[in-house]
Amino acid sequence: MTPGLRGRPRTTRYGEPGTGAAMRGGPAWEAVIMKIGILGAGNIGGSLAQLFAQAGHEIALSNSRGPDTLTDQVATLGPTVHASTAVDAAAFGDVVVEAIPFGRIEALPAPQLAGKILVSASNYYPQRDGEIDLAGASQTEFVARGLPETRVVKAFNTIWYRHLRSQGDTSKPEAARRAIFLAGDDEAAKRVVADLIREIGFGPVDTGSLHHSRVQEPGADIYNQEMTVAEARAALG
Ligand SMILES: NC(=O)c1ccc[n+]([C@@H]2O[C@H](COP(=O)([O-])OP(=O)(O)OC[C@H]3O[C@@H](n4cnc5c(N)ncnc54)[C@H](OP(=O)(O)O)[C@@H]3O)[C@@H](O)[C@H]2O)c1
Repeated sequence: MTPGLRGRPRTTRYGEPGTGAAMRGGPAWEAVIMKIGILGAGNIGGSLAQLFAQAGHEIALSNSRGPDTLTDQVATLGPTVHASTAVDAAAFGDVVVEAIPFGRIEALPAPQLAGKILVSASNYYPQRDGEIDLAGASQTEFVARGLPETRVVKAFNTIWYRHLRSQGDTSKPEAARRAIFLAGDDEAAKRVVADLIREIGFGPVDTGSLHHSRVQEPGADIYNQEMTVAEARAALG
C-alpha cells in the first residue's frame, strides 16, 4: 500500500484499465477508492471534485463561506461528493487539494493537514494576490514552509480549468495525453498524485523538487502550454 493511503478495492466507473494500478502494469486490486478533501470550490477545485468523483473517489468539497453555500454545486456532482468546512475537508482527505487564492494560503488548516498529502494548485500573481514576501522560496516551497508536517506536491497549477474539464482522455496512451506537471520533495506522495493525474486521463510529468518547481510557475516556458507528455518531456530537456 502506498504510504499515507488507506483504501479499499475500487469498483470504478472507468473499469480496471483506467486505474492507477493498471497503468503501472500492476494488479487491479491495488487500486483504491481514496478520500479526497478539496479546499476551494471554484474553477479548479470544482473541476477536480467532478473529475475525481467520476473516477470513483469520495470527495469533501469546501470553500471559505461554509457548506451551506455549496448545496447546489454538490447536488450536481453525485452521491460521492459532500459539502464540508475547509477544516473538515482537510481532516477527511487521505489526499487534500488546495485550489484557493494564493493570498489566502495562510488560512490553510495546518493541524488537519499534518501527515497528509497536500496537492497545491494555487499560483501567486502579485497583482491579484497582493505583495507577499516569498523570502527566496518558490511559490510552493512557500506553501510548504507553512506546513512543515505536510507532504506537499505541486500539481494542476499549469492547466486552465476548462482544459482540465475537457482534455483528459483515458483511452490515449500516456505519451499522447495532455501533460500535467507536478513537483515535490516526497517521492511516494508524488507517485500518489501521478496516479490521480492518470486516472482522470492526463499524463504526469515530474519537474523535480519543490525548489525547482519554479519551472512550472506563471511566466515559465511550460506554464499554461498545451503539450502532450512526449512534448513536455522534450521541452524540459
Ligand atoms: N482558474 C484556472 O484555470 C486555474 C488554473 C490553475 C491554477 N489556478 C489557481 O488555483 C487557485 C484557485 O483558482 P480558481 O480559478 O479556482 O479560483 P476561484 O474560482 O475564485 O475559486 C477560489 C475558491 O477558493 C475558496 N477559498 C478561498 N479561501 C479559502 C479558504 N481559506 N479555505 C477554503 N476555500 C477557500 C473560495 O471560496 P469562497 O468563494 O467561499 O470565498 C472559492 O471556492 C488560484 O490560486 C489560481 O491561481 C487556477
